[in-house]
Amino acid sequence: MNIQHIAIIMDGNGRWAAQRKRPRTWGHKAGVKAVKSALQACVKANIGHLTLFAFSSENWRRPEAEVSRLMTLFLSSLEKETPELTQQGVAIRFIGDVSAFSDKLQAKMAEVSALEPERQQLTLNVAVNYGGRWDIVQAAKQLIIDHQQGSVNLDDISEDLFHSYTCLAQQPAIDLLIRTGGEQRISNFLLWQCAYTELFFIDTLWPDFDEKVLQSVLDAYQQRERRFGQTSEQLNA
Ligand code: FPP
Repeated sequence: MNIQHIAIIMDGNGRWAAQRKRPRTWGHKAGVKAVKSALQACVKANIGHLTLFAFSSENWRRPEAEVSRLMTLFLSSLEKETPELTQQGVAIRFIGDVSAFSDKLQAKMAEVSALEPERQQLTLNVAVNYGGRWDIVQAAKQLIIDHQQGSVNLDDISEDLFHSYTCLAQQPAIDLLIRTGGEQRISNFLLWQCAYTELFFIDTLWPDFDEKVLQSVLDAYQQRERRFGQTSEQLNA
């Protein structure tokens, strides 16, 4: 099974905590543990790229106290977990408009992004203040600048060229997208990148995500036929 890149919308932390009569932040903390098991499971399954939706451009609309605790949790998780992850061969990168975060958090993200593990096993892309439409618009803006400066001709603009301006352009295409927590929508995640991605919506709440859950999705993926617009007969010929 050749899976190179998985993306996950980690949903259900709040409900997981509510089921235990605990505050939502408790669910987010448990969510960090689930991130660690997902990473371990991907390394074990030989999957080289994992992209996680940690904070969407719409998540700012949450109560101020929850947003502030999430920021503290991001910072403390990066401080605490990065050394071990780097040692295990995980390179951590960020996608999204990070300029909205505090200087301290931005500095930490820059420091973590610069780390190169000795034996790289997995690239973890953390999507923060990310939106799929934002990604497409920032790509368009950059392309227009290059056109105005003369390095891109109108006739050269193709899907491939446009793709090269979007986030994750240097990484393999996303084979499958998993959303935990039972909702069946993309919520403005990787809109451009998921054109041919297989989608899996599962009821498991994010803090309960582990190797077993990942394996059940990988088994289901194997049953799917990726046709990329062709017919079944063509693929089997
Ligand atoms: C969605 O659950 C989860 C989030 C908005 C935050 C995700 C953050 C983490 C898993 C922790 C930090 C991650 C990293 C990479 C350091 P929800 O709150 O929408 O749950 P609900 O739908 O049950 O309310």
